[in-house]
Amino acid sequence: MNGERATARRLAEQYKSARNLEARIRLHRRFSTNPYPWFRWVLDHVRLPGTARLLEVGGGHGLLWHENRTRIPAGWEIVVSDLSPGMVAQAAATLADRPNIRVAVLDAQALPFADGCFDAVIANHMLYHVPDRARALAEMRRVLRPDGKLFAATNDQDHMTEVRNLALEACDALGIPGLRRIAEEVTKANALFTFDMASAELGQHFDQVQLHLRAGELVVTDADALTDYLLSGLPAVAAGALDAPLRTWLGARLASSGPLTITPRTGLFEAARPR
Ligand SMILES: C[S@@+](CC[C@H](N)C(=O)[O-])C[C@H]1O[C@@H](n2cnc3c(N)ncnc32)[C@H](O)[C@@H]1O
Repeated sequence: MNGERATARRLAEQYKSARNLEARIRLHRRFSTNPYPWFRWVLDHVRLPGTARLLEVGGGHGLLWHENRTRIPAGWEIVVSDLSPGMVAQAAATLADRPNIRVAVLDAQALPFADGCFDAVIANHMLYHVPDRARALAEMRRVLRPDGKLFAATNDQDHMTEVRNLALEACDALGIPGLRRIAEEVTKANALFTFDMASAELGQHFDQVQLHLRAGELVVTDADALTDYLLSGLPAVAAGALDAPLRTWLGARLASSGPLTITPRTGLFEAARPR
């Protein structure tokens, strides 16, 4: 129970605002060899008629909708939700001019909606944070109409392992044990909801589970962007203490060894609610 409370506190701090998430998104945007934007790619898979109801859970500050704003049919009614009030406040500000989008603070484990009222539910890189995932998946299934679709993005076990290796290398080079925590966080995060786990767990609640793999790698040339990324998963106090030495070390490391290639293993699961 104490462990669960500590995890909830860490998540609340991590997602108090979009700052940490944006550092991670920025690295992908700037350095991915895949020029096709992630949020556009996600929405490409959501094939619905001009009139439809959609729910996003763990939607953060609403980038999926902001970045697709010119492509969203006027007949879609969208609820963008997140557990973090800070994220939802930011989404509300960004999406204020969209009459067909409303925002809500809510927990994916207890959805305050009637059975069968959505055509699609989107859970983009969030299910690995949910303590009772079976309950959340049951809720998503419940609020979907028969044949309605769940779209759930996650990372596999070996996602961006180069980042973990780099943190360990920095730890050895600088003799700062705190840097090991970055590597531990990456390892822990990648094991929470792997592709195998997602296939098995979604298969218990949904039909026709399929995985769309995202192509591309990152070729990173900017030490500051990489430092921001590495520190984004840590509590602010820990990140603050490591910032200066890590930034300097990474600057020298990239200057001497050249760009760092990082391999994401990310995918979007699509699954249908059984009839
Ligand atoms: C990695 S971020 C992804 C945000 C957004 N989907 C995106 O891709 O930009 C994970 C989000 O899940 C939210 N979250 C964590 N646990 C949640 C829960 N139980 N219910 C709803 N949202 C949750 C966090 O507050 C955070 O905004």
